[in-house]
Amino acid sequence: MIDFSAPSFVKDPYPELALLRKEGKPVWHDGLGMWLAAKHQDANAVLRTKTLGRIFTPRDPETQWNEFNWLHSDSILDSEPPKHTRLRSLVGKAFSRSRIDSLKPEIERLAGILLDKADLKLRTTGTFDLIADYAEPLPVKVIAALLGFPDEDEHLLRPWSQAIVKMYEVNPSEQAQAEARLAAHEFAEYVRGLMVERKARRGEDLISELASVEEAGEKLNTQELIATCVLLLNAGHEASVNGFGNGIVAALQREDQLALLRTNPRGVTDTAIEEFLRFDAPLQLFERTATQDTKVGEVTVLEGQKIASLLGSANRDEEVFDKPEEMDLTRANNPQIGFGAGIHFCLGAPLARLELSASLPMLFERFPNIELAEEPVRRDTFVLRGYETIKVKTA
Ligand code: HEM
Repeated sequence: MIDFSAPSFVKDPYPELALLRKEGKPVWHDGLGMWLAAKHQDANAVLRTKTLGRIFTPRDPETQWNEFNWLHSDSILDSEPPKHTRLRSLVGKAFSRSRIDSLKPEIERLAGILLDKADLKLRTTGTFDLIADYAEPLPVKVIAALLGFPDEDEHLLRPWSQAIVKMYEVNPSEQAQAEARLAAHEFAEYVRGLMVERKARRGEDLISELASVEEAGEKLNTQELIATCVLLLNAGHEASVNGFGNGIVAALQREDQLALLRTNPRGVTDTAIEEFLRFDAPLQLFERTATQDTKVGEVTVLEGQKIASLLGSANRDEEVFDKPEEMDLTRANNPQIGFGAGIHFCLGAPLARLELSASLPMLFERFPNIELAEEPVRRDTFVLRGYETIKVKTA
């Protein structure tokens, strides 16, 4: 039975996940009290089956969890049709491929500024941190600009988001719970303030757009507006930071893959970013609840039971991928499901792909001889898998 919080598992979950796939069907996990779908076919089916819903289980309703609860139950991610369809269609337009593609020059400009600063740090201190100095600020700045979140308060986003997402791990501590409640409260109140401000003075940003929909009535209420903005601000950077970090560390640790990025970064970018997300998925586990008895593979998930889709495991399935344990930045056939599948398929996938495909070649064009300066430090979490710091230097 997998111990999801064991340090050895968090460090490298893939050997145990490979054993789980060998079972050939979803397996019941007593500790989590849910089924685990580890094979690509099953994990994919979990996300696509209508009778397996994303149903948020509130924590102690009517207590101090109230705000944390509605920040989830009123968001796109934690709702099901018809509410999900309504909320997703309201923000869908803002994330369409053509709207997102128009952001490319701005993303490149921001990446260029961060690389200038990293260059300075490198020259003065000998190293810089790929997370704190590059992978993290870029998506934070992009999503903040899209929503019209004030520049001077951007530094608040990552700590709020980090505190909230700790609750998605298995067994969060009492302290983590208290921090999550406080962050939910502060974040919700901050966004409420922005909404009031934008109603008075409309801008070109997404918060202004949603505030005017809310004012017109019917389509969006205040809680849904706040929950949606908080979700977008969190989802808009959390996985992107880790997707970049996980992929770049794996590449920096493999001479042959590193050579591809050094010699022809633009030539391999498209396949490289898909391989980054396949090889070490930044989001590893998503749960669903059966609204009626539902067959997945060879097992029946009874009404009310939960089943987890293990994305990182699915992405290493030997029945789907050729040599899945090897990183291949030129991999052509790559049906990775790191962005999920079905109705909750990542709304931000075009944005995440654009950020990665802009920032990866720019990094290697600026620093072709980049290498790890010391052992990178992993976060001690499994569901949101990523690095705390990745110190690099140039050879
Ligand atoms: C590499 C980066 C990213 C990865 C790997 C990723 C992954 C995912 C996954 C797996 C889901 C589905 C969860 C489920 O089925 O339960 C999801 C949903 C979502 N993602 Fe992303 N995401 C990334 C970046 C982004 C960005 C940049 C945004 C920007 C706004 C974003 C916004 C969302 C939203 C709003 C949802 C909920 C969609 C729905 O429920 O209909 N994501 N993401």
